Amino acid sequence: MIEKIKEHIAQVEAFNTTNPDEIEQFRIKYLGQKGLLKDFFAEFKNVPNEQKKEFGQTINTLKSKAQDKVNTLKEALENTEETKGVYGDLSRPGEPFQLGSRHPISIVKNKIVNIFSRIGFNVSEGPEIEDDWHNFTALNLPEYHPARDMQDTFFIQTNPDVLLRTHTSSVQVRYMENNKPPIRTISPGRVYRNEAISARSHCFFHQVEGLYVDKGVSFADLKQTLQYFTTELFGKSKIRLRPSYFPFTEPSAEVDVYWGLETETDYKMTKGTGWLEIMGCGMVDPNVLENCGIDSSEYSGFAFGMGIDRIALLLHQIPDIRMLSENDIRFLEQFKSAD
Ligand code: DAH
Repeated sequence: MIEKIKEHIAQVEAFNTTNPDEIEQFRIKYLGQKGLLKDFFAEFKNVPNEQKKEFGQTINTLKSKAQDKVNTLKEALENTEETKGVYGDLSRPGEPFQLGSRHPISIVKNKIVNIFSRIGFNVSEGPEIEDDWHNFTALNLPEYHPARDMQDTFFIQTNPDVLLRTHTSSVQVRYMENNKPPIRTISPGRVYRNEAISARSHCFFHQVEGLYVDKGVSFADLKQTLQYFTTELFGKSKIRLRPSYFPFTEPSAEVDVYWGLETETDYKMTKGTGWLEIMGCGMVDPNVLENCGIDSSEYSGFAFGMGIDRIALLLHQIPDIRMLSENDIRFLEQFKSAD
């Protein structure tokens, strides 16, 4: 009898299948209500006393081997089923997934757009290929006006009326022509100038233009708006407005933000002054309002324009403006942002 059980132990050990029905049959055969183990245990009382010990141990071995076998086969089956299933193996480590990065120009542009959208500015755009009227004449820069030389212009072919816009101020004109005040809009975009390419300047770069036109808009509104903006973007609220000249604004100013002189980088960035120049601004010249069909006796407004590239260089301490357009993946990969 003991020999017979030992044969079964060997069979149990050798048993292998991936078929769930066969596993179940195996379980019933040994461990079921009417299974072999039941029969063997029933035999126990007929076994001579001196064999009882060995007999008992052998059946117990068979029992635990059969249980183990059923468990391992079932487990193996579940694993293979999971790998084949919709979710795969839920216990395997996650696959690292590649986060895309955003271009530093886009990061800064999005930040600026967000800051102004919180105080009611919408976003507007205009074409990069412009005509003379929108880029110059309507902005109080008639033909032969000496201030046209402030920006070296790329003309398209030989037609002097078609050019690559030299600033986003052209979008102001388009917006005022097509919308009635109150106007609160910012216009980000690419601009072009015929300048020698170096670490500090490029023949194309990016600007954001701002325009606010309504009844009773004053220079105080402009200053307050700029202060809000610099606090939000740089975390710095100390600004100064230096008198300047732009044909399309009167009075005009250049805005400096006080950066501080705490670190060596502060010294470098501000050339030892603590101040950083960030944009031009002013009250929209009444001539410009009139050129765009807005009654300057009823409405006034302010405008400002800033270079995105320069701010991106400052905020990310990028030493050369050319890096922004070289598309070197090792450079671009370093900019991850939720903005
Ligand atoms: N368009 C100017 C430039 O490209 C920047 C600027 C200055 C824009 C003053 C404005 C402004 O709207 O009011 O340098």
